[in-house]
Amino acid sequence: LTYEALAAAGGPEEPQPVVICDAAAATGRATVWQMAMSEAFWDGYGMNGARVYYAGKAFLCAALVRALTDAGLGIDTASLGELTLALRAGANPATVGLHGNAKSDAEIDFALCEGIGRIIIDSLPEIDRIVGRARALGVEAPLMVRVTTGVHAGGHTFIATAHEDQKFGLSLATGAARAAAEKIAAADGVRLVGLHSHIGSQIMELDGFAAAARAVLTLRHELQQAGIAVPEVDLGGGYGVAYTERDAIAPTQKQVADELAAIVRTTCADLGSDVPVISIEPGRSIIAPTCVSLYPVVATKDVMTEDGFTRRYVAVDGGMSDNIRPVLYDAAYSATLANRDPNAAPAHVRTRVVGKHCESGDILIPDALLPGDVAPGDIIAVPVTGAYGRAMASNYNMATRPGVLAVAGGAATWWLRPETIDDLLALDPGL
Ligand code: LLP
Repeated sequence: LTYEALAAAGGPEEPQPVVICDAAAATGRATVWQMAMSEAFWDGYGMNGARVYYAGKAFLCAALVRALTDAGLGIDTASLGELTLALRAGANPATVGLHGNAKSDAEIDFALCEGIGRIIIDSLPEIDRIVGRARALGVEAPLMVRVTTGVHAGGHTFIATAHEDQKFGLSLATGAARAAAEKIAAADGVRLVGLHSHIGSQIMELDGFAAAARAVLTLRHELQQAGIAVPEVDLGGGYGVAYTERDAIAPTQKQVADELAAIVRTTCADLGSDVPVISIEPGRSIIAPTCVSLYPVVATKDVMTEDGFTRRYVAVDGGMSDNIRPVLYDAAYSATLANRDPNAAPAHVRTRVVGKHCESGDILIPDALLPGDVAPGDIIAVPVTGAYGRAMASNYNMATRPGVLAVAGGAATWWLRPETIDDLLALDPGL
């Protein structure tokens, strides 16, 4: 692989960081989720009791929205930007949801006017606000209540979201979740469409989902007994993926779907209630493994460690501006040489792959094994960068955010073109 070959195939003109996405893999992974959930929750009467919403925060662009909605998925959004993109790309509003613990009036009004399928409530005052705005607009608002189940799960504290003392959701333990559902059921202009649980992200064990599902289904049963219908329960996203060879292999989509269906069926049978429509919101598990980031090597140096050893540093164009995950969550990635056979090269040495930003913490991979002769002009590939990479990219040091080049059937097209310095300068009225 060379940057000349990439340019000839429609990729970046100059060596620069770029994200390459296997478009068919993205659609394939989404389709497998869709089929696994449909089969697992098939109720035998011709009704498909399951829905899959792609969590757009992991990575979103118009082509992906089209591919995923064509595959039958809905789109879950968490901001005006994500919502606008999803709808402009043609997603059916009825299959789009809006999350957020601090939704602006503009977000709520837009969601209501466009007629999206569900707005997920995150606080009690938010209900009053939406009732008011729905009344003013003369529409009915479909609401879900995000329930904090008290389940501890998730790869890192920053991405665990269902323990008590954190900002998301309405507590089951204090009765806030039930109060929210009752408030919605009693109010005019809003309709309770379901209960929602999202316990965290990058979760490899299914126990947390089971505990959360039982808790939410029990609340649903209590509400239904009190005469409040709850047609749908969303069990959220968070299904983990393996980033490196050292990571455990994640459960397959089929294993997750079958396990969720078993828990839901058993819990509902124990409670003596019917089985609701079940939805999920995977983001990472659809898009993360489909992308590889390519980085040009710019500089190398050998540095003395504190205990007297030598450490090889390989500095690439890019870094924390296109992948903040190692710095923010200690997330592990691997690296390989993409432009020549790494096995034909001299012995591998322990190498630290660092970015170009003005921070010593700008480390992409603290301990990579790379050939000892890696030099400027080489290309380093870092796999599994599809989720929360480009989506969390920043312009730190006025870096331009990388393009996302989708490859399918031997052809490459930009899903997102690379940002240019002119794009950035255009924001500055002083120039
Ligand atoms: N649904 C809700 C309500 C969420 O908050 C999230 C993720 C998802 C679905 C999708 O979760 P996934 O299937 O992608 O794990 N930036 C972090 C991850 C933050 C996740 C936030 N919420 C990271 O890079 O690990």
